[in-house]
Amino acid sequence: MRLILLGAPGAGKGTQANFIKEKYNIPQISTGDMLRAAIKAGTELGLAAKKVMDAGQLVSDDIIIGLVKERLKESDCANGYLFDGFPRTIAQADAMKDSGVKIDYVLEIDVPDELIVERMSGRRSHPASGRVYHVKFNPPKVEGKDDVTGEPLVQRDDDTEETVKKRLAVYHNQTEVLLGYYNKWAESGLPGAPKYRKISGVGPVEQVRDAAFAALEG
Ligand code: AP5
Ligand code: ZN
Repeated sequence: MRLILLGAPGAGKGTQANFIKEKYNIPQISTGDMLRAAIKAGTELGLAAKKVMDAGQLVSDDIIIGLVKERLKESDCANGYLFDGFPRTIAQADAMKDSGVKIDYVLEIDVPDELIVERMSGRRSHPASGRVYHVKFNPPKVEGKDDVTGEPLVQRDDDTEETVKKRLAVYHNQTEVLLGYYNKWAESGLPGAPKYRKISGVGPVEQVRDAAFAALEG
């Protein structure tokens, strides 16, 4: 299974990625998680990316495309992969197409903007695993602790209301165009074209998970 999860910030890409990667036994390639790991490690890339991410803007296409191409060379990608938060621009999507990276499904998770700020303000993450919680909608078993490791959960620096609004604007201006890009490719029926599926991301996490699983079977 090789797929792309598309959706606005807070649509639930990371949340659903955790279910899908387990079901299909594939790695989750989250460019956001990779950048946050670089920040934590204090690398040059991390230092440069932090400013851009805290401003709610996109990191440059060249950097992101380079990161993903390197990641795809690793052996765990042989069985498939799940892109989460990538591609985010036409240039990134074209780079994958041009280098022959295969995609079976593009899954769009649709959530209206009005719900996003509340989702972000209550988000808590376990950076090492990519697991995501919400204080109200998807609470951990023990407050402030990851269910599996018991390690502390953190809040993301870019989850302030102001930055979330900027990220949403960037999504509408630069990333939403990819919905049409992949829809058109899927409809072309050309060899290698992916299947395009759209589900609602509103409702309990398990309901969205079931919709995602069903969409990827048809
Ligand atoms: P990234 O980390 O990709 O963030 P994002 O796309 O803004 O998406 P989020 O991670 O915020 O949301 P999500 O859809 O994963 O939702 P989640 O499942 O966590 O990118 C961060 C930054 O890095 C970018 O701004 C950019 O600067 C840079 N970057 C990354 N990739 C890049 C790229 N390709 N090119 C350039 N720059 C890039 O859920 C959110 C919350 O909602 C959680 O609390 C969760 O528990 C809750 N929730 C989930 N599902 C439900 C539900 N059904 N009901 C209620 N609550 C729910
Ligand atoms: Zn995410």
